[in-house]
Amino acid sequence: MASTSTGARKRKNEESLAFHEVAPSASTSASTLQEKPRYDVFINHRGPDVKHTLATRIYNVLKDMNVTAFLDSEELEYGDFLPTTLQSAMHSASIHIAIFSENYAKSPWCLAELSFMLTTGAKIVPVFYHVEPTDLRYVEQGKGIYVDAFVQYEKKHRYSPQKLQEWKMALKNVSCYKGQIIKNNDDEMGFLKNIVNIVLKEINNVPLVVANHPVGLEETVIDFEKNALQSSQEGVQIVGIWGMGGSGKTTLAKTLYNKISSSMEKSSFIFDVRDGATKGMLHNKQIQLLKDLGVKEEDRKFDNIEQGMAILAKTLRSVKVLIVLDDVDHADQLYALLPVKDRLGGGSLIIITTREYEVLKSKGISSVYKMRALDPFYSEQLFCWHAFSQSVPLNGFEELTNF
Ligand SMILES: Nc1ncnc2c1ncn2[C@@H]1O[C@H](COP(=O)(O)OP(=O)(O)OP(=O)(O)O)[C@@H](O)[C@H]1O
Ligand SMILES: [Mg+2]
Repeated sequence: MASTSTGARKRKNEESLAFHEVAPSASTSASTLQEKPRYDVFINHRGPDVKHTLATRIYNVLKDMNVTAFLDSEELEYGDFLPTTLQSAMHSASIHIAIFSENYAKSPWCLAELSFMLTTGAKIVPVFYHVEPTDLRYVEQGKGIYVDAFVQYEKKHRYSPQKLQEWKMALKNVSCYKGQIIKNNDDEMGFLKNIVNIVLKEINNVPLVVANHPVGLEETVIDFEKNALQSSQEGVQIVGIWGMGGSGKTTLAKTLYNKISSSMEKSSFIFDVRDGATKGMLHNKQIQLLKDLGVKEEDRKFDNIEQGMAILAKTLRSVKVLIVLDDVDHADQLYALLPVKDRLGGGSLIIITTREYEVLKSKGISSVYKMRALDPFYSEQLFCWHAFSQSVPLNGFEELTNF
């Protein structure tokens, strides 16, 4: 029958594997789009090879750390339209783990996912599971264990030569990425520890949104580094940022956080600590901090602030951390969230923002940075952004905006 001819089948196969942007149908409401689940990690793998072994172990180890991973058997409901579900999962993930196992290339889905993930801009971590990077790199030259799968595709004419070429190039590209090689059980245990660190680091690196129209922050950061930080990076520094409400303390702290966090082992930005004036809220801030520091969910269960302090003290010891405690208004909050000021890892930096100078008289504070008023040049720019949605006054308003 004409409809089942090789050409038609080929087109059908390629269409179902084509990961094009799917335009929302008229019946798709904005809220349905917003409700799509978000994932931190997407695990690309060949089910029969590793679903019940390595892929599930990665999934579980990440789940323990509160990282949401997409592993299709766990996430797909019967009847889900595969490409759309996969596309949105892949778009939402900031890191993709691609497990290259022996039969990986026999799955057109794996190859189509791989080729799509290269277009998303997310970080890709290849895992060479009993295969070598060269098995991916030289398919075009007819070398390596994936060649057979491509010979079969070519024989069956299921996919166009362009599609096959695209997949070969995807394999070749990703073979050059920094990856993890697993050849035996010992490698696998080390790998699982590694992958948690890689993933947490990547997730924590998502920068905080600083301000709609940031002005003059580079200068303020330079001024802060010159006046509030010690030149030696060895010791632990606890620095206060002090100023009146609206003076830009949180904005500066976010900018510093974005700049510094990638050089630390762990980082955490705890917003609105003053809300923790009630004990219940302070308890929540301790949990948030422990979560950011990578403490497993079952070890984050405690009944009172004192127990939380004990877990924090144990966790923070010797780790090089960046912690921002934003909008602190009582020394008790510092006591609860920072029980081991002196035993943190070398190079740690703690930033405390506050309107209350008294808070910064606590023991162990190395320096206090006083927020300054914005330079008139930047005040004018900021005003213009808000008044005219541009950095300079509209024609005719120059006099009015003269600061
Ligand atoms: N350099 C800047 N460029 C652009 N916008 C800024 C800048 N500094 C502060 N803002 C904006 O000004 C507002 C107040 O800043 P911010 O929240 O940092 O102040 P704060 O000192 O932390 O205040 P509070 O004591 O109430 O917490 C925010 O909307 C912020 O985006
Ligand atoms: Mg603030």
